[in-house]
Amino acid sequence: MSGFGCVVLAAGKGTRFYSDTPKVLHDLHGRSILQHVLDAAAACGFNRPVVVIGHGAEGVWRFLKGKAVPVVQKRQLGTADAVKSAKRELSRFGDIAVLYGDVPLVRKETLESLIRQHDASASSCTVLTVDMDDPSGYGRIIRDISGGVKAIVEEKEATPEEKEIREINVGLYCFDRRDLFEAISKVQKSKIKKEFYLTDAIAILLEDGKKVSAFKTDDPDESIGMNSRADLAKAYSVLNRRKIKELINGSVTVLDPATTFVSPDARIGKDTVIYPFTVIEKDVVIGKRCAIGPFCRLRPGTVIEDDAEIGNFVEIVRSTLRSHAKAKHLTYLGDAVVGKETNVGCGTITANYDGKKKSRTVIGDKVFVGSGTILVAPVKVGNGAVTGAGSVILKNKNIPARSVAVGVPARILNKSKKAKGKR
Ligand code: UD1
Ligand code: CA
Repeated sequence: MSGFGCVVLAAGKGTRFYSDTPKVLHDLHGRSILQHVLDAAAACGFNRPVVVIGHGAEGVWRFLKGKAVPVVQKRQLGTADAVKSAKRELSRFGDIAVLYGDVPLVRKETLESLIRQHDASASSCTVLTVDMDDPSGYGRIIRDISGGVKAIVEEKEATPEEKEIREINVGLYCFDRRDLFEAISKVQKSKIKKEFYLTDAIAILLEDGKKVSAFKTDDPDESIGMNSRADLAKAYSVLNRRKIKELINGSVTVLDPATTFVSPDARIGKDTVIYPFTVIEKDVVIGKRCAIGPFCRLRPGTVIEDDAEIGNFVEIVRSTLRSHAKAKHLTYLGDAVVGKETNVGCGTITANYDGKKKSRTVIGDKVFVGSGTILVAPVKVGNGAVTGAGSVILKNKNIPARSVAVGVPARILNKSKKAKGKR
């Protein structure tokens, strides 16, 4: 795709988010809206796209550091004006892919197909479209009698008949760069919204005798624009459905997709079973043959190795559970390592935060952590040790291997019986 540049428009205010945070920085299943768009662009080889920023520019600028070439649009005068503000940065490219920073679900495959079609058809512009059951809010695709694209009409400017059209503009285009900037220079302010619409460049190109093509996808889900928090919720469930589909069409059992939430970034091994009401966040890795849930939450940085079991009301963050470890009921594990074949009893808590900093808890292999144990970090429990029910292991009071610790605060009783021969 040499000669192809990419610009992402992300300067808009996001008025209907009613937020102090720039719209494109809102979280969508573990990544910001804009990050999703950058990831789709990167997947197609656009590693440092030009990103037009404006509203909340400082925050977005910081976010983009090293990831993109930011360009500031001083006043948000519309999408045509936004592209215009990136003219200099785009000048070395023959063709330009224009993406909207608030359309985060577009898949790499779709973007690639659009680019391929644009190349093959030698058009001045190729626009991505889709049929939406409810097209309200989107620009409508007006076609001529032979089926070619004639214009894009924004909802606010559309006649009642045009509003009936279900084919919409996704907000993803390829343009011949020279033709694009020539057309943009002719775009007039729209009558009602008083903005310079990029979509008006389409009709201008046609008037100038240029070729405009449409590429229609059949997946309306990937075309949702994030204009309100209701759209954000819709997008979250689309991403979730996509991920669960990938899992159940592969080698993972998800018993109840409707109550299971899995980040697109989580990795789960073969023959693992996910029980209902489970939340698996980003940067979670689960091995093979594990049982997860019901009612558990695995937060970022959790690694569950093969054959481990995580049961109900267990929360885990930044922790590793080695193979065959079990934490089956009412447990919090934060900044911890749990060794092989260790059983973490019901109600165990790693007290990892002292109000100032977080510390680690390291539990060895084949440990039996008694019900209701509190481990005040930093602390270590040696291999084969046992903690009594309700014991409180104070920080830095490490429990030696194969010993038994009981009480509040815990004291070491004797060598565990298990240690004396059974293991
Ligand atoms: C836009 C399209 C519409 C399409 C829809 C798809 C136009 C005129 N309309 O409508 O046809 O169906 O997206 O979701 O393009 N932006 C800037 N600077 C500006 C204005 C906007 O950078 O001055 C950015 C926004 O941050 C956003 C994108 O451009 O990421 C689209 O702008 P938005 O105002 O959301 O357009 P829509 O009304 O959604
Ligand atoms: Ca939008």
